[in-house]
Amino acid sequence: MSILKKIVTYRPSFTVRILTGLISMLILLSVCTFIGLADQTRLNVRANEFNARSIEVGAKVYFDQCARCHGVNGEGVEGLGPALASEHFVGRIELVRDNMQMQTIRVVQPSERLKQIGWQGTLRDYIIAVTEAGIPIKTSNMWDVTHPTFSERLGGPLRGDQIRNVADYIINYGLDPLPNDQALLPPAPGEGMAPRPTPIPLTPAQEAGREVYLAKGCSACHAIRGVGAQGAIGPNLSRMGAVAEERIASESYKNNLKDQPPATTGAEYIRQSILYPNAYIVAQCPQGPCQANLMPQNYEQQMTPEELNNLVDYLNALR
Ligand code: HEC
Ligand code: HEC
Repeated sequence: MSILKKIVTYRPSFTVRILTGLISMLILLSVCTFIGLADQTRLNVRANEFNARSIEVGAKVYFDQCARCHGVNGEGVEGLGPALASEHFVGRIELVRDNMQMQTIRVVQPSERLKQIGWQGTLRDYIIAVTEAGIPIKTSNMWDVTHPTFSERLGGPLRGDQIRNVADYIINYGLDPLPNDQALLPPAPGEGMAPRPTPIPLTPAQEAGREVYLAKGCSACHAIRGVGAQGAIGPNLSRMGAVAEERIASESYKNNLKDQPPATTGAEYIRQSILYPNAYIVAQCPQGPCQANLMPQNYEQQMTPEELNNLVDYLNALR
């Protein structure tokens, strides 16, 4: 009883009161700081997740809108667009995390390309600028096309957030960029206007084959540099003669060919691809893996044997 009374009637001295006040304030402060730090770490983890999602969404935009000219792996496409995954373009980056999980991009090696063209801003700004507004004039004879405008504001198909997403996706190539010798690099500014080498003239049969190619609607799905529409459903055929020889020598062709005898020459391969599109499905198309059953399977009925011969002759001449 007397202890309780003592507690209830306890009057601490002034110094003790000040001291206890100070100590409790310190405890309160450190608890707050601790909660704050934990919260900041949580926020940082969120931000990192958000960035990863932006890259994922950007990948989809890239395959839908950019891959047909810049390549499925960002390696570039002859005549249509330069590499965007090359070390030359993206440089080299690494991701660093501080002890509060805050992830930042560290540039290990800056983009050569930006130096070459004298761009003062960041790589991200450059990608966004080109993608939004396009490039209104052709800077080089290497390209058959000028850069399309993608911003919705300018009549293009993409919203601002989608353009930022695709920029994040391209910057991410910098973690593991393509070596420059495996990528189609753009010419340096001012060096791209030299006239192109005169193409080897086509024979009359090949010329007739090109007419067949245009008349039968192949260009709705395929692209040949400088010829007709630039379809992006099936493989680019600009180097078909050379590609056909690579195909028949490949393990993939030997292992995956179905229901047809293996072609022994490039021309045979091209003929087989036109008449029996499903016998061998090419691995990569401009917007991801090639699909079976897309290419019509009745071309034998749609053209005369002579038209077919000319078409094969023409495609085989493209190197
Ligand atoms: C119709 C073909 C085409 C499409 C589609 C296309 N590009 Fe391009 N892109 C080009 C060409 C051609 C160039 C080079 C233009 C020049 O320098 O004159 C280029 C250049 C670029 C450059 C500058 C590269 C450098 O080395 O300076 C960036 C960045 C770029 N494109 C991003 C994109 C993105 C992102 C998309 C998809 C949203 C896209 N492009 C879609 C054809 C295309
Ligand atoms: C509706 C779209 C479509 C049309 C039209 C079409 N193709 Fe294709 N083509 C494809 C697709 C998709 C592939 C890849 C899948 C495969 O291997 O069958 C392909 C593959 C090819 C290949 C093999 C390419 C390679 O890299 O090995 C050749 C050659 C070819 N097509 C020629 C033609 C010709 C010639 C025509 C017109 C007579 C034509 N295609 C019409 C979609 C089309």
